Amino acid sequence: MMEETIGEALVEVLVEPDIHRKLKLAEEICRSGNFRVKEIQGPPIPPQPGRPKDWRVLPTEELQERPSLTQADGRRALLHSVAHIELSAVELPILAILEFPGREAEYYRDMLYIIAEEVRHTRWLIRRLEELGEEMGSRSVHLGLWNTARAYPDLCDRLAVVPRILEARGLDVSHKIRRQLVGAGDRESARILEEIYLDEIKHVALGTKWFRRVCRERGLSPISHFLSISRKFQPSRPVAIDREGRRRAGFSEAELEFVKGKHQT
Ligand SMILES: [Fe+2]
Ligand SMILES: [Fe+2]
Repeated sequence: MMEETIGEALVEVLVEPDIHRKLKLAEEICRSGNFRVKEIQGPPIPPQPGRPKDWRVLPTEELQERPSLTQADGRRALLHSVAHIELSAVELPILAILEFPGREAEYYRDMLYIIAEEVRHTRWLIRRLEELGEEMGSRSVHLGLWNTARAYPDLCDRLAVVPRILEARGLDVSHKIRRQLVGAGDRESARILEEIYLDEIKHVALGTKWFRRVCRERGLSPISHFLSISRKFQPSRPVAIDREGRRRAGFSEAELEFVKGKHQT
């Protein structure tokens, strides 16, 4: 990491507008793996993450419905949207480091591990889009994940919201999307999404580990705290929950029953 502290280097990743450079900077930090816990606190976090000037970044509610996955354009739109989710997923664990200084090294190592995998996911999808003749940034994107994360400035809440609600929903939808892609003849995209799915189980599991640990430190009941935060999140459309994947990611049976009930309403 040269003369920079890890805090400075991570803020640079957030600010960087060029996507390939952003991914490279993030990768270098993860690869070096060498940091001092007391150097986590960096310069101020930018209000929004850097994106290329010519990208259309819209409020979440202004994005248009995607065409069906039976159409090639619908499949490209889906991959574009997932690629941007993965790019945002590089930035969320960076926030989870910068906003919560003073923890043990193991916490930061786990976040760096997630960042390294999210960099890979973003690259796989950008490459796949290019194979399908589309450039990243050719469609509108939104900063919903970043904004939601920032709305929960408390570590315990953040660990419930980002890995255990948002990323866990990604597990739920993955099966159906992969089935539809295979049905439409795009096995390669489905294969990439399956590899991503397997990594995401690990991310949710790490979120579960830290969520429970922070709850314990504060004398909170992990289950009641998780349920109280989950009540604020209503799925936009009903989707079958991925019991097996969520179990592997550490969800308890009581949590699964609660999430299932919410997804059916
Ligand atoms: Fe990912
Ligand atoms: Fe992830």
